Amino acid sequence: MRTPFVVGNWKLNKTIAEALALVTELKNQLGAVKGVAVGVAPPFTALSAVAKRLEGSSIVTCAQNCFWEPSGAFTGEISAPLIADAGGTWAIVGHSERRQFFGDTNESVGKKAKAALAGGLGVIVCVGEQLAERDSNRTLEVVDAQLAGGLAGVAANATSRLVIAYEPVWAIGTGRTATPGQAQEVHAHIRKRLADQYGAQVADTIRIQYGGSVKPSNAEALMAEKDIDGALVGGASLEAADFVAIVKAARPG
Ligand code: 13P
Repeated sequence: MRTPFVVGNWKLNKTIAEALALVTELKNQLGAVKGVAVGVAPPFTALSAVAKRLEGSSIVTCAQNCFWEPSGAFTGEISAPLIADAGGTWAIVGHSERRQFFGDTNESVGKKAKAALAGGLGVIVCVGEQLAERDSNRTLEVVDAQLAGGLAGVAANATSRLVIAYEPVWAIGTGRTATPGQAQEVHAHIRKRLADQYGAQVADTIRIQYGGSVKPSNAEALMAEKDIDGALVGGASLEAADFVAIVKAARPG
């Protein structure tokens, strides 16, 4: 009953011209794909051009970050109203690279998620443990703290625009994917926590994406797991052929 959602997170890649070339191909190749929602998250410089090119298609444009204040003296930041103005309809918050390199915390991720929703955007809240945390059996505890912070300001009536992305940090950009079983275990746990916060019925409707070295070769097995509802794709989203193959693998069987 949950429509899988596959989003390409381009990270710090693609000029405007390169971005337009890629989304033009995606628009052509994914126009007729049914049963799966698709998004791309270009760098901010290409957001407006990409959103414009995607007009008339069902592919949505996502921002890679979203500051919590709408405007003001915050040099270098971009807010939900500006994302919406540029044609973006979703924002990714709490990506592990932002936590690792740019100081995002569970608390600030929560403020960003709340602001994105208040600004009318959908929000993808990223969680995931580092290798040392997994090795010391702290995965679920780390994810719990990330969810508690990230969802602190997310009301039950906004959950139709809420997506969680489980991205184990040790699987990002490493070629080392979580096994479908490893991912499913954490996804099921996340759904339990969503049920604690919003009730089981609502939790059943919230999509939980997997991210971390998703490729055409492993996408189908991951997507076949009960609580995996799509993917947040990094490296493999930079080429149309790979991304299209992953989207097709996410179609409900
Ligand atoms: P890779 O697919 O390159 O491992 O990146 C995953 C990711 O961080 C998506 O947000």
